[in-house]
Amino acid sequence: MTLRDARGLATSSANRRSLDAFEVALGQFQCYRGNSIATIDAALAADSEFAFGQIFRAEVHISAWEASVLPEVETSLRALEKLGNKCNDRERAHVAAIRDWHVGDWDGFRARFDLLLAEHPRDALALQIGHLADFFHGDRDNLRGRMMRALPAWNRELPGYGFTLGMQAFGLEECGDYRRAEETARHAIELEPDDCWAHHALAHVLEMEARQVEGIALMESRRDHWAQEDNGFAFHNWWHTALYNLDQDRADRALEIYDRSIRPGQSEIQTEMLDATALLWRVHLRGIDVGKRWHDLAAAYDKTAQDGFYAFNDMHAMIAYVATGRCEAAKRLLAGATRAAEKSGANARMEREAGLPIMRAVEAFGRGQYDTAVELLMPVRYRAHVFGGSHAQRDIIHRTLIEAALRDGQFALANALATERTQLKPDCPFSWQLRNRAEAGIAGRGGVAMPPR
Ligand SMILES: [Fe+2]
Repeated sequence: MTLRDARGLATSSANRRSLDAFEVALGQFQCYRGNSIATIDAALAADSEFAFGQIFRAEVHISAWEASVLPEVETSLRALEKLGNKCNDRERAHVAAIRDWHVGDWDGFRARFDLLLAEHPRDALALQIGHLADFFHGDRDNLRGRMMRALPAWNRELPGYGFTLGMQAFGLEECGDYRRAEETARHAIELEPDDCWAHHALAHVLEMEARQVEGIALMESRRDHWAQEDNGFAFHNWWHTALYNLDQDRADRALEIYDRSIRPGQSEIQTEMLDATALLWRVHLRGIDVGKRWHDLAAAYDKTAQDGFYAFNDMHAMIAYVATGRCEAAKRLLAGATRAAEKSGANARMEREAGLPIMRAVEAFGRGQYDTAVELLMPVRYRAHVFGGSHAQRDIIHRTLIEAALRDGQFALANALATERTQLKPDCPFSWQLRNRAEAGIAGRGGVAMPPR
């Protein structure tokens, strides 16, 4: 007789041990702790026909959203295709989504999760994978909407309810509903004290409201809950902590955090590399030399080049190449992204609408052609959500634009853009520094072309 999972969903498995292993792996994935793939691989070694094990394995790999996982996704997909009709309808819907992602149909992938979750709102894996896919598409409405649609089917007795609230908090934050996001994130943390994604949602609220001193205090005081040794997401929450420090003029502390907790190790995971790049570029825009850190990072990109696979990653690779004067690599990356833009599908759209203009702007910035950088970034700055990431991550585009305007002597524009920031975040010292430089330029006072040290 086939069994149900811990949230009451039918599976095609009659093996209780396999389902128990899935619950352990799911718990690891929800907390981003340990090695959930190793847990599920051990279950699959004992039960090779465990369909949901293969589904979990494929989708957790997909959640990295990078080209290097394609062979692993394919291995699980082939195993699932062999199982064929042994899978139930819900499992087959997962398999169809995996197949879509494998052939690059990311829109199809997300649409299948919309339908699957309409039927099965308690499918915790589908919720988390769909949520991450929405994030990689910068789809703030579905980041919120997906959880809104599912949550009425949940209650606090169901395992994973708190994690669902943590995801809901992030969706609310990305939609600008900061009060409700904060309340929901704090409730999620009460229910699941080690939910690093709920901590992350709260970190975003504090970033968007420039509550940096509070952010540092929160993240430092709760690090036992989100920065454990085996936490695979700690690098990103440390990145948020470094951002608070940087905007509070504590670049030394931000770089200390970079060296200890953000700098990619041997793993060369693109999401880690992009956070590292984004932090170093913010420091670089302030005119601070980060030493050999750039070269180590660009060397990691050299080794893992995935030109044109995902526009958001491409932009970060371009920044690392520009910062280190790797002209050939930059040219190769642009060529790859241009080829990708000529195809169809989600990433082609992302490259066309955001990736390519922003990469060209970064390249121009690196050559000192600040006027070109301004020209390219102005029209794309509010549309860049199409290539994914969060508001906090895409702030790098606005910062680059203002810095280019200042360095090009376009002080009225720089002042207007910096004023927008001070209006939105009156408590952010960095935004006031940008505005002061622009005002000094307008007044004809010298020394504003480059940032003060
Ligand atoms: Fe974040």
